[in-house]
Amino acid sequence: MKIVLSSLSALIVFSLVSFNSPSNPQSLNSEATSLEKENQSPTPFDKMMMVLTHKRCVNCHPAGNQPLQGEDSHIHNFDVQRGADNHGVAALRCESCHQPENNDLSGVPGAPEWSLAPLSMAWEGLTRVQIAKSILDKSINGGRNLEQVVEHLTEHELVLWAWEPGIDAAGKSRELPPVPKDEYIAAVKEWAAQGANIPEH
Ligand code: HEC
Ligand code: HEC
Repeated sequence: MKIVLSSLSALIVFSLVSFNSPSNPQSLNSEATSLEKENQSPTPFDKMMMVLTHKRCVNCHPAGNQPLQGEDSHIHNFDVQRGADNHGVAALRCESCHQPENNDLSGVPGAPEWSLAPLSMAWEGLTRVQIAKSILDKSINGGRNLEQVVEHLTEHELVLWAWEPGIDAAGKSRELPPVPKDEYIAAVKEWAAQGANIPEH
């Protein structure tokens, strides 16, 4: 019995250690370690795409007609729909709940112009290479040239919100993207300055 109990507690300790949330520095370290194993540190492109593929971005860049929510990217509550202008349908507009700032009492996140990214800018289900190609494709990225893409990626309030995502309706802090904001901004600029190349994978 004693043996069973102690292996049980070992299991519990193991689970606690291994199921860290991705925002936890520990998993960042393990990410870095796996890259180091391959004898390379993350490139600016790696860092940039670790952010763009994160749910803080993808929840608002879904492939369907409903926003996603939370760390598990479930379909938005209240059956909220995209609507013709990406701000919801008449009876349920984004801005009737989402204010220009987070509301940490109700857990409703907020930033100016809160709305869904248009379907042409959907990232859900895309690989990092496909996302990177799409943000550079003027026919679907809102007609932006590279300079304007960089500006959006490094200055737009809906993008920067991801590093101040507030707390959810249950009072739990939302996860931050896995790269600190300043490091991400520097990585985007460096990637662009080096020619905005997209690797094969
Ligand atoms: C009836 C109120 C209401 C409406 C209307 C509404 N939302 Fe929300 N939204 C919420 C609440 C509440 C949450 C927070 C839920 C939680 O995290 O616990 C939320 C969370 C979100 C999130 C999750 C952020 C994240 O990364 O977890 C996104 C994205 C979002 N809403 C987008 C939209 C968009 C886009 C619209 C309009 C098309 C919209 N919402 C309309 C109340 C609303
Ligand atoms: C609250 C919803 C919301 C969140 C959160 C959000 N976006 Fe967006 N995003 C939009 C909307 C709306 C547009 C369209 C704006 C426009 O074209 O002017 C957009 C457009 C973009 C574009 C330009 C179009 C393109 O495909 O090149 C980029 C780049 C972008 N978002 C990056 C991000 C990144 C990076 C994050 C996370 C760090 C993020 N977004 C989080 C709503 C959101």
